[in-house]
Amino acid sequence: MSTIKLGDKAPNFDAETSEGKLNLYDYLGDSWGILFSHPADYTPVCTTELGTAARYKAEFDKRNVKMIALSVDGVESHMDWIKDINETQNTSVNFPIIADEDRKVSDLYDMIHPNADDTLTVRSVFIIGPDKKIKLLLTYPASTGRNFDELLRVIDSLQLTAYNKVATPANWKHGDDVVISPSVSNEEAKTMFPKGFKEVKSYLRLTPQPELKNS
Ligand code: BEZ
Repeated sequence: MSTIKLGDKAPNFDAETSEGKLNLYDYLGDSWGILFSHPADYTPVCTTELGTAARYKAEFDKRNVKMIALSVDGVESHMDWIKDINETQNTSVNFPIIADEDRKVSDLYDMIHPNADDTLTVRSVFIIGPDKKIKLLLTYPASTGRNFDELLRVIDSLQLTAYNKVATPANWKHGDDVVISPSVSNEEAKTMFPKGFKEVKSYLRLTPQPELKNS
């Protein structure tokens, strides 16, 4: 078991999935990645989450993000469960679900929190950059389904701040003004942000959002 922190290299692994054997790094290639765990197959919240994730695939694709889910049941169980997900959530699951029966990946990513449940994974989210480093960690309990709009919002922020010297303020969403990094001087800001900026305080400078890039 390991504890993964922001900025760490995402541990690589080989795994059986609903789409065959894969190696994480090969699967991700130069893309961003989102790895998210589910407590178990045939559970109601997970069913809605995987259906939602499948319906949002075009949005993840637009952001150059490859999805990969994990549940501690086997491939056969995943394949049968996917039929239910597709039927009940009006979608077609279009990304691999890791069959982590031996808990190898769950342990590698510290997805089992014994004081919550000693066998099932919690709802972890890892966002992995093209450099294979961990850019974001989220941990939800089994009883709370994740908000996929929030995951897209946070990916927009991660990609914006990876490629520009800006940060995103509270409740920021695509199109809102962003904050200029403190490391940028006003002189530099004039050329770096041609749309101009507003100095609310010397440490709080706002500028229109630069164009989003994802590679
Ligand atoms: C669910 O996905 O619905 C779930 C899983 C484990 C515990 C509670 C709910």
